[in-house]
Amino acid sequence: ELGDYSHYMQKEIFEQPQALSNTLEMISGAGQLQPGIFGAEAAEIFQQVDSVLILACGTSSYAGMTAKYWIEQVAGIPCNVEIASEYRYRHSVPNPTQLVVVISQSGETADTLAALHHAKAQGHTFTLAICNVPESAIVRETALRFITRAGPEIGVASTKAFTTQLSALFLLTLLLAKANQRLSDDAEKAYLDELRHLPIAVDKVLALEPSIEAWSQHFANKHHALFLGRGRHYPIALEGALKLKEISYIHAEAYPAGELKHGPLALVDSEMPVVVVAPNDEMLEKLKANMQEVSARGGQLYVFADGGSAVKSSDGVNVLLMPEHYGLLSPVLHVVALQLLSYHVALVKGTDVDKPRNLAKSVTVE
Ligand code: F6R
Repeated sequence: ELGDYSHYMQKEIFEQPQALSNTLEMISGAGQLQPGIFGAEAAEIFQQVDSVLILACGTSSYAGMTAKYWIEQVAGIPCNVEIASEYRYRHSVPNPTQLVVVISQSGETADTLAALHHAKAQGHTFTLAICNVPESAIVRETALRFITRAGPEIGVASTKAFTTQLSALFLLTLLLAKANQRLSDDAEKAYLDELRHLPIAVDKVLALEPSIEAWSQHFANKHHALFLGRGRHYPIALEGALKLKEISYIHAEAYPAGELKHGPLALVDSEMPVVVVAPNDEMLEKLKANMQEVSARGGQLYVFADGGSAVKSSDGVNVLLMPEHYGLLSPVLHVVALQLLSYHVALVKGTDVDKPRNLAKSVTVE
């Protein structure tokens, strides 16, 4: 079943172009998005929605955090993301015109399901599941649904489920923007073209594997690593750190880079690799100043930049250029590079990549 791959995780990382094109199949020839892709009642519900609340755990919550940046910027409506295990026990203030989005690969995560029950018990009726398993518990209990078509994910560490969740959330963003009269026909066409090109763009990131593998040697003997990102790439830094922790057992933390000098900078020395997600976006100049702070303390930088970033390799600054600059969808490309990094670090360390210690694929108990 593994074919030419050594592990399910590697196979699933490389299946991402196909998983994305399967998930996005319904827009393959479309010039306009139809809300019906989220369910029969979607058109009516999206018209009434005044804000979004995303509930999820782990990697799925990072997909939600990325979507927060998209939804507020493109659709112009407030979006909050909350960890399902916190929300389910918290006294929150329900808003009946809020769209509650639960994101779950398995659709069976106990805390996410309980968070959905909690939301419904509080009077929320506008509920949407983004899920990879059509017959799962979560999907049966929401008014709206979108099924990602990543195919079965066997590796415990989520990879293709995450990127397909992101693609679904971008479709949601566009539909909310349309409902909110924030999306011109031209902009819609342009975004749809970018989505359609995504599998090709991901393929080009996968071709970077040899260079990323070379970097992995520098991490395998380290005990700690720091991941930095800003804006919509901050959740990608979180996901990169989670992947490294899970499968290589290296302690990794992620920060929005502006937080460095508020504490974590104290940890930085030459033994601390610092991974930076640094595409040429509106936060780049700020991020460069943060990288300078790391370099000044002897920190070793591993920077995922792109052609427009103009970050130069030098002593202590390692730069890998991503093949394309991808605007709002750039998180999808950068996470693939970080997945490959953690995979190869784990290989060097010889850990059980597909079944990391202490973890289960589907967390059906609290
Ligand atoms: C990390 C990972 C977990 C899951 C989390 C939620 O690689 O896979 O953090 O994302 O357990 O699982 P789902 O999405 O099935 O609800």
